[in-house]
Amino acid sequence: MNDSPRAAPSRFFTQHGRHLLGLQGMHPTRITPFLDLAESYALMNRSRQTPRDRLRGRTVINLFFEDSTRTRTSFELAAKRLGADVVNMTVATSSVNKGETLLDTAATLNAMRTDLLVVRHSQSGAPALLARKVEASVINAGDGTHEHPTQALLDALTIRRHFGTLHGLTVAICGDVSHSRVARSNIHLLTAMGAKVRVVGPPTLIPGAIGALGVDIHYTMEDGLRDADVVMMLRMQRERMNGGQVPSPREYFRFYGLDLKRLALARPGALVMHPGPMNRGVEIESRVADSDQSVIREQVEMGVAVRMAVLDLLSRAGDLT
Ligand code: ASP
Ligand code: CP
Repeated sequence: MNDSPRAAPSRFFTQHGRHLLGLQGMHPTRITPFLDLAESYALMNRSRQTPRDRLRGRTVINLFFEDSTRTRTSFELAAKRLGADVVNMTVATSSVNKGETLLDTAATLNAMRTDLLVVRHSQSGAPALLARKVEASVINAGDGTHEHPTQALLDALTIRRHFGTLHGLTVAICGDVSHSRVARSNIHLLTAMGAKVRVVGPPTLIPGAIGALGVDIHYTMEDGLRDADVVMMLRMQRERMNGGQVPSPREYFRFYGLDLKRLALARPGALVMHPGPMNRGVEIESRVADSDQSVIREQVEMGVAVRMAVLDLLSRAGDLT
């Protein structure tokens, strides 16, 4: 793959530079510029005035090996609002079905002079593997149970808009933490920015080792939600379960679903968040999801702004190399 004139080993940067593979270990001084730029893109999106020349002539390819509504659409919108040429590769109808490997698929796209490759894959580490093989900047749009960095950035931006800061806030991340890349990226980002993070859920869905990431573990909603500033709910990710890890949806809701009574244990006006897609009546009650405390739609709005900032900053990092 490195046979093109654009390739040179010195052009490889870590996730802190040309690629965005994850947030683990990322310093606040690297996180804040994404949030600040996204904040200004959020305002421009509202006034429908975005700099359409910012990524003119650049090519963005969305390569999604797993289902997506929000992430794929918002990367497409983000790229278009900055004037890039965007291609959405439909993996289901691609030559992957004829046995082409991930690396050969990426090499093919790379040969088409792709500047930014947005990748979602069921295998943890797949975007990192591609980043070592292609000249394009690789953005992780969710890999297995590993990370979903742009989700955590959009969550952080949403929280920051309401509280003005992340520092000192208590954030309860509730539900299927074991299978959640959203939880992992949020834990990395929020702890780096000085928030206190709790994970809340049944012992079967909380990995024992997660405490090493600097979070408190609670096995009941009643303990975990008390005085929280933010309640972030997670979907049960059955597609990653081998079976037997959770009771029926009805029983799950009884013990771990967010209803108004449980929400009342958090601080008054606490934010309710969910990365989507929601399973109403399983991890969250409709009355909560649609309440004034819910910022779930704002998260989606911030998703476009954050992805604009990520595409913009990574394309500039490429210029500097
Ligand atoms: N959409 C998020 C993800 O892809 C969360 C979820 O699917 O539950 O990780
Ligand atoms: N939050 C999230 O990643 O949503 P999609 O799976 O719909 O992209």
